[in-house]
Amino acid sequence: MITAAVARAARVLRAEGLVAFPTETVYGLGADASSAAALARLYAVKRRPVDHPVIVHLGDPDQLDTWGRDVSDDARLLAAHCWPGPLTIVVHRNVRHVSGAVTGGRDTVGLRVPDQPLALELLRAFDGGIAAPSANRFGRVSPTTAAHVQADLGDDVDVILDGGACTVGVESTIVDCSGEWVRVLRHGGIPIGRVAEILGREIREAPEGEGPGAPGRLAAHYQPQARVVVIGRCEQAISKARALIDRGNRVGLLAPGPVAAELPLGLEIVGKPENVEEYARILYSCMREADELGLDVLIVVPPAPSGVGAAIADRLRRAAGVDAN
Ligand code: TXA
Ligand code: MG
Repeated sequence: MITAAVARAARVLRAEGLVAFPTETVYGLGADASSAAALARLYAVKRRPVDHPVIVHLGDPDQLDTWGRDVSDDARLLAAHCWPGPLTIVVHRNVRHVSGAVTGGRDTVGLRVPDQPLALELLRAFDGGIAAPSANRFGRVSPTTAAHVQADLGDDVDVILDGGACTVGVESTIVDCSGEWVRVLRHGGIPIGRVAEILGREIREAPEGEGPGAPGRLAAHYQPQARVVVIGRCEQAISKARALIDRGNRVGLLAPGPVAAELPLGLEIVGKPENVEEYARILYSCMREADELGLDVLIVVPPAPSGVGAAIADRLRRAAGVDAN
C-alpha cells in the first residue's frame, strides 16, 4: 500500500520537483533522473558543478540492465548479493535510456537500490530512476535526519519525507565495475572486505584524485565549521583538549565509549559510541552538534579501521582537511 505522503512525493517528482527522502545511509535529494529540467534544478539547489555525476536510485535490482549497458558478471554478482543495500555500482550507461546530464557527461552511471522502506515505497510509486545526491549543500556534512535536511535546504526542496534517523549513517560504498578491474571509488556502508568476499578476490583502490574530481574524493569535504582534530589515542586526545581549553578554546570530544579518563572542566562530550556501527550512525550528527554548540575544535578519536570503520576514517580525514597524500 502506498501512503498519501509517498503518493504526493511521487507526483512532485513527476512534475519535475525535488523530494528529499531517507535512505539507510544518508538523506538524498531526489529528482526524476530522466528529466533534464528536474536535474538542472537539482544541481542548482545542491550548488554542485554540472560535471559531477549523481547516483541513480532504483526500486528493483532487475532494472540494472535498463540503466546499464554491457553489465559485467562482477556487477551482477554484487547487485545480487548487496541490493537493496549501501553499495553503489558504476557500470556503462545505457545511452538510449540515461542522459549524460545525470552522469556529468560520463559514459558510466552509478546505480543503487537503497535498503530503506520509505525509499523503496517512493521508488516503486514513482516507477522510474531517482537521481539523488546527499541532501546537503555541496561540500557540507551529509544529513542523517529530516531536520538536518530542513536546516540545510529549507524551502528549496518541495517535499521532505521523514523516515527517522538513518540506520547506517555514512554514504554508500562505491565500486567501479566498468573497467578491466573492479575498483573502490569510495569507502562506505558496505565494507570492502565484504565486496572482496563476494567476488572471491582482492579489490583495488582507485588512486586518490584520479579522474575528474568526484566530490566524495575531494580532500576538503564533509567539513563542519569547527576545526576537526583526529588523535589516535584517548589519553592523548584528552591532554590535547586540556591544552586547547587552557588557551580559551571551546572544545568537544567524540571518542569510542566509555571514556574512562578524568575529563578537563568545560570539555563537551559530543559522542561516545559503543561500537563501530553506532559510531557511523552518529558521526554526522556529532559534527553538526559541534557547530550548534559553537565549538572551536572537535577532537575525534577514530574507531578501529575494520568494517565500516574504514569509511569513518576516510570521512574524518576529509573533515580534518588532511589530504590523504
Ligand atoms: O549513500 C549514498 O550514496 C547517498 C544516498 C543519498 O544514496 N548518496 C550520495 O550521493 O552520497 P553524492 O552525490 O553525495 O555522492 C555520490 C558520489 C559522488 O562522489 C559521485 O562523483 C560518485 O558518487 N559517482 C556517481 N556516479 C558516478 C560515476 N558514473 N562514476 C564515478 N563516480 C560516480
Ligand atoms: Mg554527498
